[in-house]
Amino acid sequence: MIRFEENYSLKNHNTFGIESLAKFFFEFTDVSDLSVFLNSNKSFSEEKILVIGEGSNILFLKDFEGLVIHPNIPGIHVVKEDRQNIWIEAGAGEVWDEFVQYAVDYQLGGIENLSLIPGSVGAAPVQNIGAYGHEVCDVIEKVKAYDLENNIPVEFNAGECEFEYRNSIFKRKFKNKLIITSVVFRLEKFPEFVLNYGQVEEKVKEKGEVNLSNIRNAVIEIRRSKLPEVNDLANAGSFFKNPVVEKELAEQLKQKYENIPLYPTKNNKVKLAAGWLIEKAGWKGVREADVGVHKNQALVLVNYGNATGQKIFDFSEKIKQSVFTKFGVELEREVNCVL
Ligand code: EPU
Repeated sequence: MIRFEENYSLKNHNTFGIESLAKFFFEFTDVSDLSVFLNSNKSFSEEKILVIGEGSNILFLKDFEGLVIHPNIPGIHVVKEDRQNIWIEAGAGEVWDEFVQYAVDYQLGGIENLSLIPGSVGAAPVQNIGAYGHEVCDVIEKVKAYDLENNIPVEFNAGECEFEYRNSIFKRKFKNKLIITSVVFRLEKFPEFVLNYGQVEEKVKEKGEVNLSNIRNAVIEIRRSKLPEVNDLANAGSFFKNPVVEKELAEQLKQKYENIPLYPTKNNKVKLAAGWLIEKAGWKGVREADVGVHKNQALVLVNYGNATGQKIFDFSEKIKQSVFTKFGVELEREVNCVL
């Protein structure tokens, strides 16, 4: 299936629900269709390109004067297995949470803590999605993609993806230069459960046995209690990253704010909770016209109706400024802002 549109509304392609027009929009379900499209429309190589999946981590500040490409490649299949693992390839267009459900149904571990994260399989490696002690890079074996500049398929082993906290080579060097077409995951037949984040263990035990399905359900419950669902209240998950700061600054903050959550990182720095900083700066639940900070999780900005991308951006600037003034900490946006 292919679909090509001009002056196409992206409102249903971004979970913030922002009205923005794409000059051109191309959706495909098969890599060969993308290749044919690009080879027969050479003029598109002059256009600015934006690749979008489910649009759950994006903020449009205005109309997009270029070509939006939406890979919608389906399919989940087993690549190989041994005694410990099964390698499964999933198409970029598969819905992430449906893939997690599939893994849990087949008793395969490694992604159960990543339940209910919005977005597509193809977007998961881009920002190395993570939650409740798991990051998707821990189970990625290979990322398959299509190189838009050279019109050829390419592959990346996990090591070549340069994964970091909410970051990868796909968000840096290859941003909008290639399209992820599928991801090969290495899932575990005998998983080691990760329960030591927040309330996960407590919630799982309430359900009984520690197993994949109870972990998935516990994570879903925790997320639902804190994070607004995009169908109820438009948002793009965490708007900012949790900032990583020098130890000295973290120690100074600890002296002043006894209860500040601090998470030491491997490189001798300290990760702070952006949600805590924003809440303590007085923003939790604050609403200005159609933009606001969610009442249960200060890291999430919401669109109550007809906010423009620019309004949400301006509001986020005020939050950044206020957190910097109060704590001396610079917040970095996690959401991809498109100009
Ligand atoms: N906190 C507050 N006030 C708030 C929010 C959080 O004080 O309004 C405190 C919490 O009490 C806790 C700490 O901050 O002590 C951390 O909060 P939480 O466990 O809710 O997680 P987070 O650091 O705010 C990150 C991810 C989420 C992910 C959760 C759970 C980032 C940017 N965000 O949030 O991911 O679901 O951990 O693992 O790393 C996303 O990326 O879109 C996302 C939702």
